[in-house]
Amino acid sequence: MKKFCVVLVIAVICFSFSSVIFYRPIQEPVPVLPSRQRSGDPRAGYEYLTTGDYLRSGIPLSYFKMGFGKNSMNYLKREGFNADIPYDYTVVNAPNGELVVAPNCMQCHAQVFEGRLIIGLGNSSIDFTKNQKLDPRNAEAAEKLLKNLDPKKYEAAEPFLRVVKGIGDQLHTEVRGVNTADRLAALLASHRDPKTFQWSDKPMMDIPAEVIPTDVPAWWMLKKKNAMFYNGFGRGDFSRFLMASNLLTVNDTAESREVDARFNDVLAYINSIMPPAYPNPVNKKLVREGGILFVQNCSKCHGSYGNPGKYPNLLIPEEEIQTDSLLFKSNYQSYQFVEWFNNSWFAMGEHPARLEPFNGYIAPPLDGIWITAPYLHNGSVPDLECLLNSKERPRYWRRDFDNQEYDFDKLGWKYKAQDSAQGTAVYNTDLPGYGNYGHRYGDKFNSRERKAIIEYLKTL
Ligand code: HEC
Ligand code: HEC
Repeated sequence: MKKFCVVLVIAVICFSFSSVIFYRPIQEPVPVLPSRQRSGDPRAGYEYLTTGDYLRSGIPLSYFKMGFGKNSMNYLKREGFNADIPYDYTVVNAPNGELVVAPNCMQCHAQVFEGRLIIGLGNSSIDFTKNQKLDPRNAEAAEKLLKNLDPKKYEAAEPFLRVVKGIGDQLHTEVRGVNTADRLAALLASHRDPKTFQWSDKPMMDIPAEVIPTDVPAWWMLKKKNAMFYNGFGRGDFSRFLMASNLLTVNDTAESREVDARFNDVLAYINSIMPPAYPNPVNKKLVREGGILFVQNCSKCHGSYGNPGKYPNLLIPEEEIQTDSLLFKSNYQSYQFVEWFNNSWFAMGEHPARLEPFNGYIAPPLDGIWITAPYLHNGSVPDLECLLNSKERPRYWRRDFDNQEYDFDKLGWKYKAQDSAQGTAVYNTDLPGYGNYGHRYGDKFNSRERKAIIEYLKTL
């Protein structure tokens, strides 16, 4: 009996220890401290963003015009060759002097909303399903044509075509509207030496096969954030992350240094962007009621607004937030990309960046939230009404991408719930990475309270 008791006591002690050491999940939010940023000139940053040569390869200008025709919507009011090129491309000089058309940041970070181009609003209608933009077969055809017909143009386009041929077919998504930038970054890393950025046709590290879908965060939130990306794993010098698109076509690190020297200005521009104001009148009484509920229920994670506002920069662990975990889990399951980055050119020099993965998501600032539908990191929830009432979130929902209509009351894209998922215009929350669960903080409210919170959110 005594022996049994001793064994029992030891077992109990071991169990409680192990639960302390091994089994206790982190439940508490983790604050992120600021890191030093370079300062810059916002106007120069805007110029460089919209006309600059951060990518120096692309489609030769004459061929681009043949394929796309002339574009008369000069949203950015650009001059010269850029005046009749869509806003999400820029005409640049390749190193051999040829003019090429390169994709720019506005491919993913701008959207035409009610007839106006809004820079910094994530492009939530991008289509990676058909792979129109990065089709390896087109790249092969272009390569054959240019090689014989126009060797100088071929030389200028070669870095771009090589990348499209190498990785273009690994960027498909199941539905339209979600983005694959995270996978693009990992694929580029897998083909490039971390220190020299030398391209290798054969990948040099394994990355997971799945394409993880994300939405695109609005640029105007960055000025408040101490950590970049939904997962909050981007730390250190933010400009280093902003310039990472250059990895698409970069020739060598001498080019990276030149581009890096301009991105402090781009960061200053991004930090100068204000969210667009909600365009319709609001119900002031409801706004006041909603504001009180917001402070009581939401501020501890999302901060307070107005003057003075406060944003706590909190990472919220998986056990608490319970939204789809595939995005942050991929940083743990495929540590190779994080290792690549933290041992790369980006992590060296006077203003290094680094990746610090976390099992959860950062609670984002909610400035301009009225216009940034769909919601959650994977864009799985079409409007704020169902974000704040998880039982109402549609399992399958369809948006009209051709005639986009915004619902200014529910705050989100007008959609129709579907019985099943068919076609790429239907968001299918059953797919891995596309789940719409978690973040149930709005469920307890009655419909008037929920309306009040939404009215308040219109004013942020
Ligand atoms: C192919 C689409 C794509 C392109 C091109 C692109 N981005 Fe992004 N960007 C994204 C996506 C998607 C995210 C979010 C990824 C995540 O958090 O996991 C992101 C995140 C960011 C963020 C972080 C915002 C935050 O709040 O954490 C900034 C800033 C940013 N991008 C700037 C740029 C700049 C500057 C360029 C051009 C040099 C650029 N991006 C090009 C898709 C793109
Ligand atoms: C415990 C912390 C926490 C609380 C409390 C909380 N949120 Fe959140 N919220 C988050 C996190 C973390 C995310 C990002 C989750 C994701 O994308 O998977 C988020 C996302 C959101 C989003 C979507 C943002 C976007 O750009 O897609 C909205 C809107 C939002 N919350 C509003 C609210 C409101 C309103 C309340 C109060 C009723 C609230 N939240 C309470 C942590 C919290």
